[in-house]
Amino acid sequence: MHIFHTITELRSWRKQVKRVALVPTMGNLHAGHLALVRTAKAHADAVVVSIFVNRIQFGVGEDFELYPRTLAEDVEKLTEAGADVVFAPSETELYPNGTQQYFVEPPAIQNELCGRSRPGHFRGVATIVTKLFNIVQPDVACFGKKDYQQLAVIKGMVQDLNMDIDIIPVEIERADSGLALSSRNGYLTIEQREQAAQLSAQLRTMAEAMRRGNRQFAALENSAATYLQQHGWQVDYIEVRHAQTLTKAQISDKNLVIVAAAILGTTRLIDNLEVQLE
Ligand code: PAJ
Repeated sequence: MHIFHTITELRSWRKQVKRVALVPTMGNLHAGHLALVRTAKAHADAVVVSIFVNRIQFGVGEDFELYPRTLAEDVEKLTEAGADVVFAPSETELYPNGTQQYFVEPPAIQNELCGRSRPGHFRGVATIVTKLFNIVQPDVACFGKKDYQQLAVIKGMVQDLNMDIDIIPVEIERADSGLALSSRNGYLTIEQREQAAQLSAQLRTMAEAMRRGNRQFAALENSAATYLQQHGWQVDYIEVRHAQTLTKAQISDKNLVIVAAAILGTTRLIDNLEVQLE
């Protein structure tokens, strides 16, 4: 497996490979990331995994400094998973002027759900993903459904900006408790980690009610939020939305997703569950 830290090295390798799949990450890899690598391998001749903690998608007071940087362990896991290239650029390699000057600005969806409490986040994501696409020039790129809104923004961007890249969504990897795997789970204490399963459990409870015919979305949202608040969570949002457009769910919609973000202690966790109604 090659490890490249510069754009020049990556580009000269890229010239010799036909079909490339890209898996963009911020490192501190877990089984969720490795599921993306497995999917990527099935779609291309070679898989590039990028590892870059992208400052411009973090807000003031967020965990940019604290975010775990574990390159040596990540490289080991990726060697085992059969990735072909790790692209791990420095900040000055990607932001030689100290910061980015041209941005990719997503539409109004960037200010909803996670965007409401993380202004500028999706603009930072869309911008770095565009840069990575321009550097790696992949044929396909894999994104986890764990970050459902991010996936929607990337799909929309690729379509609207006519990028010739297939975006492949990958299912959420979960712990046995139901907790969606996340690098941020590492911030949780042992007790919090157990408790964190309450978030996915509430999503499942809502989904079951919806499958039984309950269309009182607001009431379902409120009772899940109340449950979590009573168990010590600070709920950012828990909402039923249209699975493709992420617009507010209408009573006649069949393709739905329940999206949620909530804070346990000081750790903000996100999760979601797609619900396909008959
Ligand atoms: P990061 O949080 O490292 O996630 C990298 C990719 O792994 C994303 O596509 C994310 O959805 C996916 N992923 C994370 N946890 C997962 C899980 N439990 N199951 C399946 N997939 C999972 O998302 C980012 O980095 C950044 O915003 C990035 C796209 C790299 C831009 O900086």
